Amino acid sequence: ANPLRRRCLQALVCAPWVRTASARPLVLRLSHVVKEATPKGVALQQFAQQLDAVSKGRMQVQIFANARLYSDLDEMQALQLGAVDMLAPSLSKFGRIGFPEFELFDLPFLFETHAQVHRTMQGRVGQALLAALQRQRLVGLGYLDNGFKHMSANRALLEPQDFVGQRMRVQGSRVIAHQMRVLGAQPVELDFAQTRRALALGVVDGTENPVSNFWTQQMHEAQTDLSLTRHGYLGYCLVVHQRFWQHLQPQQRGWMQQALRVALDWGNAMAQQQNERDLAALRATGATRIHHPGDRQREQLRQALQPVYEGLAQRIGGQWVQAMLKDRG
Ligand code: LMR
Repeated sequence: ANPLRRRCLQALVCAPWVRTASARPLVLRLSHVVKEATPKGVALQQFAQQLDAVSKGRMQVQIFANARLYSDLDEMQALQLGAVDMLAPSLSKFGRIGFPEFELFDLPFLFETHAQVHRTMQGRVGQALLAALQRQRLVGLGYLDNGFKHMSANRALLEPQDFVGQRMRVQGSRVIAHQMRVLGAQPVELDFAQTRRALALGVVDGTENPVSNFWTQQMHEAQTDLSLTRHGYLGYCLVVHQRFWQHLQPQQRGWMQQALRVALDWGNAMAQQQNERDLAALRATGATRIHHPGDRQREQLRQALQPVYEGLAQRIGGQWVQAMLKDRG
């Protein structure tokens, strides 16, 4: 009809950017704060490989590890703003952005086994938490393990009195901060990326993390003692923004879900082995004294930490804590 309109359309269809745009793969930007050789690092690399394979190269993942792009709080903001497409923050970091119920996973001595952790993730509470993310237009795509946390410092931390006066770096979780205060320590909230340096400079005395994070950040060079308390769990939630998710075609969403299913199952099966391998490597250096608390000492810690359960129940409602205990079994 209108020759001008036809010429414009022809120019557009033949424009190089239009042709390349349809042929070019969709690249997802994924940011995280730990090293590549960690349970999270390798599971996300596995996701990238799987997505490339199932989409036949039409979807790819560009991973920015080790807080190269964003640190803890800025990565959450970057996701909201669309500066990155996908994150895998620890469950402990969702409380600060308006999801205090995620801090249920931070409760000390809640889990003894990975099976208990996985039951709660797949159960009512775990699924309700993923659904709750909609409140801030986030989409929760699944859970990923790191493992059980231990306490480190320049002294053994085995009994409540050992913690008195210690300045302990914590993630931005009120449950974890409360845990430290109840033990007589002073919680200091710091980004993960600043932790190794803060330990080396003596800004903080100690911290808690699974061995994989302790080892890959070389925290053993700044801490003389690691106490294998297994007092808490560290895991992750894979999130994208609704804007990004809704913009994908159904087929692309299907590819992502398929790739994630494989990568998360694989990652969850590998995480424990990685932590064990890193503990063996740490032992081999002889650099850090490794302590094993006895049953009596763990029981003392567990008893001392009961107020943390009450504190969270008061904040989010006792029914959440009850439901979590029920799902855990
Ligand atoms: C931490 O801040 O200690 C952890 O959440 C880091 C991580 O992502 O494993």
